[in-house]
Amino acid sequence: MAKLGATSSCLLSCLVLLFLGSVSAITDDLQDKQVYIVYMGSLPSRADYTPMSHHINILQEITGESSIEGRLVRSYKRSFNGFAARLTESERERVAEMEGVISVFPSENYKLQTTASWDFMGLKEGNNTKRNLAVEGDTIVGVIDTGIWPESESFSDEGFGSPPKKWKGVCAGGANFTCNNKLIGARDYTSQGTRDNVGHGTHTASTAAGNAVSGASFFGIGNGTARGGVPGSRIAAYKVCAEKGCSSASVLSAFDDAIADGVDIISISLGTAFPRSYEQDTIAIGAFHAMVKGILTVHSAGNGGPTPKSVMSLAPWILTVAASNTNREFVTKVVLENGKTLVGKSVNSFDLKGKNYPLVNTVSTYEGPLVKGKILVSGYINGSEEAVATINIERKGGVSLVKPTPFSSLSIDDFDSLVSYINSTKFPQGTVLKTEAVFDQTAPKIARFSSRGPNFIAADLLKPDVTAPGVEILAAFSPVACPSSPKYTKSDTRRVKYNVLSGTSMSCPHVAGVAAYVKTFHPDWSPSMIQSAIMTTAWPINGTGYVASTETAYVSNEFAYGSGHVDPIAALNPGLVYELGKADHIAFLCGMNYNVTTLKLIAGEAVNCSKESEILPRNLNYPSMSAKLSNNMSSFSVTFDRTVTNVGPPNSTYKSKAVAGIGSKLSVEVTPSVLSFENVNEKKSFKVTVTGSELDPKLSSTVNLIWSDATHNVRSPIVIYNNFKY
Ligand SMILES: *[C@@H]1O[C@H](CO)[C@@H](O)[C@H](O)[C@H]1NC(C)=O
Ligand SMILES: *[C@@H]1O[C@H](CO)[C@@H](O)[C@H](O)[C@H]1NC(C)=O
Ligand SMILES: *[C@@H]1O[C@H](CO)[C@@H](O)[C@H](O)[C@H]1NC(C)=O
Ligand SMILES: *[C@@H]1O[C@H](CO)[C@@H](O)[C@H](O)[C@H]1NC(C)=O
Ligand SMILES: *[C@@H]1O[C@H](CO)[C@@H](O)[C@H](O)[C@H]1NC(C)=O
Ligand SMILES: *[C@@H]1O[C@H](CO)[C@@H](O)[C@H](O)[C@H]1NC(C)=O
Ligand SMILES: *[C@@H]1O[C@H](CO)[C@@H](O)[C@H](O)[C@H]1NC(C)=O
Ligand SMILES: *[C@@H]1O[C@H](CO)[C@@H](O)[C@H](O)[C@H]1NC(C)=O
Ligand SMILES: *[C@@H]1O[C@H](CO)[C@@H](O)[C@H](O)[C@H]1NC(C)=O
Ligand SMILES: *[C@@H]1O[C@H](CO)[C@@H](O)[C@H](O)[C@H]1NC(C)=O
Repeated sequence: MAKLGATSSCLLSCLVLLFLGSVSAITDDLQDKQVYIVYMGSLPSRADYTPMSHHINILQEITGESSIEGRLVRSYKRSFNGFAARLTESERERVAEMEGVISVFPSENYKLQTTASWDFMGLKEGNNTKRNLAVEGDTIVGVIDTGIWPESESFSDEGFGSPPKKWKGVCAGGANFTCNNKLIGARDYTSQGTRDNVGHGTHTASTAAGNAVSGASFFGIGNGTARGGVPGSRIAAYKVCAEKGCSSASVLSAFDDAIADGVDIISISLGTAFPRSYEQDTIAIGAFHAMVKGILTVHSAGNGGPTPKSVMSLAPWILTVAASNTNREFVTKVVLENGKTLVGKSVNSFDLKGKNYPLVNTVSTYEGPLVKGKILVSGYINGSEEAVATINIERKGGVSLVKPTPFSSLSIDDFDSLVSYINSTKFPQGTVLKTEAVFDQTAPKIARFSSRGPNFIAADLLKPDVTAPGVEILAAFSPVACPSSPKYTKSDTRRVKYNVLSGTSMSCPHVAGVAAYVKTFHPDWSPSMIQSAIMTTAWPINGTGYVASTETAYVSNEFAYGSGHVDPIAALNPGLVYELGKADHIAFLCGMNYNVTTLKLIAGEAVNCSKESEILPRNLNYPSMSAKLSNNMSSFSVTFDRTVTNVGPPNSTYKSKAVAGIGSKLSVEVTPSVLSFENVNEKKSFKVTVTGSELDPKLSSTVNLIWSDATHNVRSPIVIYNNFKY
C-alpha cells in the first residue's frame, strides 16, 4: 500500500482506550434468609380486599415482627395474588400452612448465558444459527488494540485448519509469543511484544471472533458460554497501545499492515479526547485506505456522553458504534441489619458470607483506623483498602464496574435512606452481597457514557451509526492484568481469564463480529454494502435512554443511537443497500471544502475537486439522512438525493412510507414513491423532500423513510435539527 502522508502532529498518547475504569466483588444471598415466592392464586373479587396489606399481615404473623421492612421483596396484586419475601426455613414452612397460600417456592435469578449479548441480539449458540462455516473460516478480523493473550481458550485453534490462502500477515508478536490457526497474525508497535498485559485487546478480540468457551465467568458472575460473533473466523492482533497510551503513529502503521495482510474487517476501540478534522484523524485516514481496499472499519463512538457533540468517530467510511445495555444486568445488594435491602451497582466477586459489619458514614476525609474492620459509607470517597467494604453514590450512569474491594454504588435516594438508617441507629450494621445477574426487560437503553452527536466535523452526517451491547460485557481477559484497574495492580491481586468491562470499546467488536458474519454470507459485498445492511435493518429504539437534564435531552435520540440497535440476522438480508465508493467520499469531502492539499492527507494521492464532482454533504449516498438548519428558519424544505441497489430478489417492487418519530411534525415527499427492480444489483435513484415549520430548538425532529416490499423494510432515519446552543 502507498505510504501514508504524515498527518498528525500528535504522536504519543493521543488516543485512549474506550472503556470505563473499574472495580470488583462477591456472593449469594444471605445465608439464613432466602427469597421465596408465596403464590396465592387469583385475586379475590371483594371490593374491600387490599392485597398489599394482606401480604404484610401474613408476614407480620409468621415472623412475629411488626416491622417487616426488608422482608417484603415484591407484592403481586394486578393479575394474580401473592408476594415474594425474605424468609427463614421455618418461616417458609409456616407460611405454606397459612390460609390462602397455594404454594411457596424459592426465587431464582434468570439463568442467562454469558455473552448474553449475542443471544440478546438474536445470534443464538449452536446449530440454530445459520452459518456459512466454510467462508467463516476464511474470514479474518483484524483487531487494533492492546495486543492479545494467545493462550486464552477463546483463541485456541482446536478444529481449525491452516490459515486462508489470502493471508499475507506474519506472527511477529515478539519473544515467547506463538500464533496458531485461530490467532493467525500478530504485530507489535510498542516494542513490548504483542502479548496483552492490560486485558482490553483480549476482551475486544474475543467479543468479535472468540471461540465459544463454556463455564466462563468472573468468579461465577455471569457464568455461561463466552463467544464471539464469528467463532469460526480467524483473528489478527495489532498492538498499538502500551501502558502509556496508544500513539496515532502506531495506529496508522497498524492500519497499513492490516490492510496489506488481508484482513476482512477491522475493529478499533480507541479514540481521541477531542474531535479532529478528517485529515488530522489517523483512524479516519487509516480507515479510508481500508475502505478503498474493500475492508470495513468498525469504530467505537467514544465514552464522552451524554454531552452533545461528544462522538469522536465522524467519517462516513467508518461504521461508528454507540453502547447500550442487554437484558442481563449485574447488581450488588446491600442488606442492612434491619432486613432492608438496597440494590446497588458494581461487579463484586468478594463474599462477606452475609456477615454484618458496622457501618461508618464519613463525609469528608477518610481515616484508615476509623474504618478498619467496618463498612465505609461515603458519598465522597472512592474506596478504602482498610475497610471491609465501601458503599458510595453511583456516579457512572448505572454501570456496574469491577472494583478492587467489596463495593456497592447506590442511587442518591438509596444512599440517603442508608444515611438515615445510620443516623437513627445506635449500632448500624449491614453487609454487601456478591453480585448477581438480574433480568432487565427495559433493555436496550443507551448508556449514559456513550458519546452523542451531532457530528462536529460534518453537521449533515448522522453519527453514531448504530448501537450494540457495551455495558457489563463478560469476555476474555489477560491473566496477568489487574481486573479492576492497572492502578490497583499491587493491592488487587485477583487474576482472571474472563472479566466484565463496559464502554463503547465493548460495543464496537460486537458490530465488527456482525459485519464479519454478514460478510461470510456475502463475501463480495463492499464495506458500504455491509454498513448499509447493518444500519437499515437495525431495531428501531423507542425511548431515550439516559437523559441527564433537559438541556441534553435533545441528544438522547438518533444522536445517541443512529439507525438503532444491530440485528445480525436481519442484516444478512437487507433487500436494498445504499452503496458508496471512494469517488463518492471524495465528492463529499470536496463538498466540505477540502482541496487538493487536504484531500491528499486523507486519500494519500492527489485528487482535485471540481464543481461537477462535488456534492452537498447531505447528498452523500448514506443509509441515514440528516440536515442542520440555520437558527432562524420558521419554515423549511430540505432535499436528499439517494440511490439504492437491489440485493434481494430480482423482480421486486418497493413502496416508500414515512413513519414520524415521537413529536415530529415533518412532512416527507419521496419521488418516485415506488421503485421497481427487475435485476439483482440494479440501481434506482430517488429524492426525499422534508418540509416543516417551527422546529423546536431543543429537539431534533425525526422521521423514518422505509422502503418496503412484502419482505424487507429498508429503514433510514431522517434527522433535522438546528443550531440552537451548539
Ligand atoms: C450441529 O451440526 C453439526 C454438523 O452438522 C453436527 O455434527 C452436530 O452434532 C450438531 N450439533 C447439535 C447440538 O445438534
Ligand atoms: C511465556 O509466557 C507464558 C505465559 O505468560 C509464561 O507462563 C512463560 O513462563 C513464558 N516463558 C518465557 C520463557 O518467558
Ligand atoms: C458455571 O456453570 C457450570 C454449569 O452450570 C458449572 O458446572 C460451574 O461450576 C459454574 N462455574 C462457576 C464458577 O460457578
Ligand atoms: C474518585 O474517583 C474519581 C473518578 O475516578 C476521581 O475523579 C476522584 O478524584 C476520586 N476521588 C477521590 C477522593 O479519590
Ligand atoms: C445524618 O446526620 C448528619 C450529621 O449528624 C446530618 O448532617 C445529615 O443531614 C443526616 N442525614 C440524614 C439523611 O438523616
Ligand atoms: C414508545 O414510547 C412512548 C413514550 O414513552 C410510548 O408511549 C409508546 O407506547 C412506546 N412504543 C413502543 C412500541 O414501545
Ligand atoms: C487547502 O485548504 C487548507 C485548509 O483549509 C488551506 O490552508 C490551504 O491553503 C488550501 N490549499 C489550496 C491549494 O487551496
Ligand atoms: C488541480 O486543478 C488545478 C486547476 O485546474 C490544476 O492547476 C492542478 O494542477 C490540479 N492538480 C492536480 C493534482 O490534478
Ligand atoms: C434571527 O432573525 C432576527 C430577525 O430577522 C435577527 O435579528 C437575528 O439576528 C437572527 N438570529 C440569528 C442567530 O441569525
Ligand atoms: C422478472 O420479470 C420479468 C418481466 O415481468 C420476467 O421476464 C422475468 O422472467 C422475471 N425474472 C425472474 C427472475 O423472475
